[in-house]
Amino acid sequence: MQPRKLFVTTALPYANGAFHIGHIMEYIQADIWVRFQRMQGHEVHFVGADDAHGAPIMLAAQKAGATPEGFVEGIARGRRRYLDGFHIEYDNWHSTHSPENTALSQDIFRRLKANNLVYSKPVEQFYDPVKGMYLADRYLKGECPSCGAKDQYGDACENCSSVYPATALKNPYSTLSGAKPVLRTSEHYFFRLSDPDCVAFLREWLQLPGRLQPQVLNKAWEWLDGEGGKALGDWDISRDPPYFGIRVPDIAEEKYLYVWLDAPIGYLASLKNYCAKKGIDFEALLQDPQLEQVHFIGKDIIYFHTLFWPAMLKFAGAPYKVPEHVYVHGFIGVSGEKMSKSRGTGIDPLRYLDLGMNPEWLRYYIAAKLNAAVEDIDFNPEDFVARVNSDLVGKYVNIASRCAGFLAKRFGGKLAAPHAANAIIGGIQGEAAAIGELYDSREFGKALRSVMHWADQANAFVDQAKPWDLAKKPGAEAALHQACSDAIQMFRLLTLYLKPVMPSLAKQVERFLGVPPLAWRDAARLLPAGHAIGQYRHLLRRVDDKQLDALFNIESVPQVTAPQRHAEKPQHAAQAHSKEPAVNEVTTISIDDFGKLDLRIAKVAKAEQVEGADKLLELTLELGGAQRTVFAGIKSAYDPATLVGKLVVVVANLAPRRMKFGVSEGMILAASGEGPGIFLVSPDTGAQPGMKVK
Ligand code: MSP
Ligand code: ZN
Repeated sequence: MQPRKLFVTTALPYANGAFHIGHIMEYIQADIWVRFQRMQGHEVHFVGADDAHGAPIMLAAQKAGATPEGFVEGIARGRRRYLDGFHIEYDNWHSTHSPENTALSQDIFRRLKANNLVYSKPVEQFYDPVKGMYLADRYLKGECPSCGAKDQYGDACENCSSVYPATALKNPYSTLSGAKPVLRTSEHYFFRLSDPDCVAFLREWLQLPGRLQPQVLNKAWEWLDGEGGKALGDWDISRDPPYFGIRVPDIAEEKYLYVWLDAPIGYLASLKNYCAKKGIDFEALLQDPQLEQVHFIGKDIIYFHTLFWPAMLKFAGAPYKVPEHVYVHGFIGVSGEKMSKSRGTGIDPLRYLDLGMNPEWLRYYIAAKLNAAVEDIDFNPEDFVARVNSDLVGKYVNIASRCAGFLAKRFGGKLAAPHAANAIIGGIQGEAAAIGELYDSREFGKALRSVMHWADQANAFVDQAKPWDLAKKPGAEAALHQACSDAIQMFRLLTLYLKPVMPSLAKQVERFLGVPPLAWRDAARLLPAGHAIGQYRHLLRRVDDKQLDALFNIESVPQVTAPQRHAEKPQHAAQAHSKEPAVNEVTTISIDDFGKLDLRIAKVAKAEQVEGADKLLELTLELGGAQRTVFAGIKSAYDPATLVGKLVVVVANLAPRRMKFGVSEGMILAASGEGPGIFLVSPDTGAQPGMKVK
């Protein structure tokens, strides 16, 4: 077989938050595929990077009181723990905010311009005079032009579902400052996607058999053809300052490339950075006709990867090349719930690791659910426990644990020659090509079902041979030796097939079997007679229900309920200045009612003024690991600087509320009476963030 040369990427995550389970799922999918290709002997360059630019990140940095550079560096430092933790083996992790990306992005822009595919024209857009910036639709709200519903976003109405341009909103306001936006005009650069050459190229690129999944091709086709065959408009690729991005080159005016232009170029920037570290010639690698460029992405970013990105690369010319494959996956949800972009799901990947849960349980579970289609998958806790415990522990590990002891005790760990007529060994060996084909085509679920089918066969073989009986039977030495040795051969082959999914477990098994790292071609060989295996040590624990309870303990992840967009009231107990009943008049509640409250000790990590709010302070609270934001109406009583480091009591299970200034994820307790003054409740010394108050 001709070795392949692969350049593989995963979508570059926005550098404004931690990884959620959706990111991890994508990385696990790509990592399994990459590990499989490496086991085949192919050359793979697997890179990732942070997507650091754009307005949301600039604003998030401002909010955090940091420079955008400092902010994205902080995010980048957090990545390692997740990647190492889940055994995701990138060759390089870089950033779009890098010298390589600046050079590559400006180069591509210049080449497109020279090819007459970039032009500029004036664009009229809403501008926030208080914040001093142009506003993307998501930062604009107003009354729906069709139904009059209040507080609707700049592009569509949630009440009547109508879609409109931001300029059609009635009584628009900026969600950043509350100010009334004004229309302003500035010069923008456009990529001529509607150019006939460009459209003709895309038609051809999309169509190549095997390049895209059928569902993805259909989507791209619809966009390309649209109604009346002129759906592709030109693409606005520049932004005005203030913006965190890469400067539009060769002009005196300060303008930036739109984040979605420089983001995919970040794939190349990471590869270039990696090539420099490894002494590989970047341009020669890209121009190698053998090189296959493969992108793993989620279904929400198909548009960018199947239209803009190939067109940019094609018309920038050599050494750039168009992607060979864009592999699209669906979304992961948890217990039937869709994941929210900002909050993730009930599963926090770091919490998973911190609880001591085995990362390979998750790799296996996700792999077992994945196929080559663009289908959503669901993490179901009961299913997870059943799957991992029955397949991995009950079937796979069981084979070795039932036989290894006899070999060690009775035969010095040495194997008998494999039984030539053992149909199960032959059967498992015979699956190498088929299972390989399934991995290569990302049908991981099918590949694992085949492995588990053969694990069942192997267990049936052991059940039938009954080594525990043979061990007691005089004169059955040879039969015992044969049965246990054959079971170990089966176990080795199944380990080989599971290795892309469970690399760390496979390494343990390689050590136990005393074999060098298993490659795919090793399926053709068996361990020879006399090969000595090591001491069997427990390979894999069962999932404990309690760990899952802890994983889903809502303590660190606020429950997501429908956002209450109109709520603007400060959320703390002290807001109720009204006539309160005297203590003895209060109606009683049961202990169960009280038990519904999840009160926690929290430490104020940050306290800030909220621009445009006269009562609120924005607090960042630490609850033992997790952080959350709470808006509290205590501005009249507290100077934010004095609050930092203070311990407070927070109602941790209050449904999050969307307020004008952001989402409040809880409420802190404070006392107040008839007179002036608001008094925060704080615990006695010794209390720690995260402790429950009861
Ligand atoms: N920054 C862009 C991508 C730029 S690529 C040049 C972006 N970032 S993202 O952080 O929002 O998403 C990164 C990847 O995670 C995307 O492929 C996206 O589809 C994927 N996922 C986000 N939520 C997901 C799930 N719930 N499930 C699976 N994948 C999900 O988009
Ligand atoms: Zn409406």
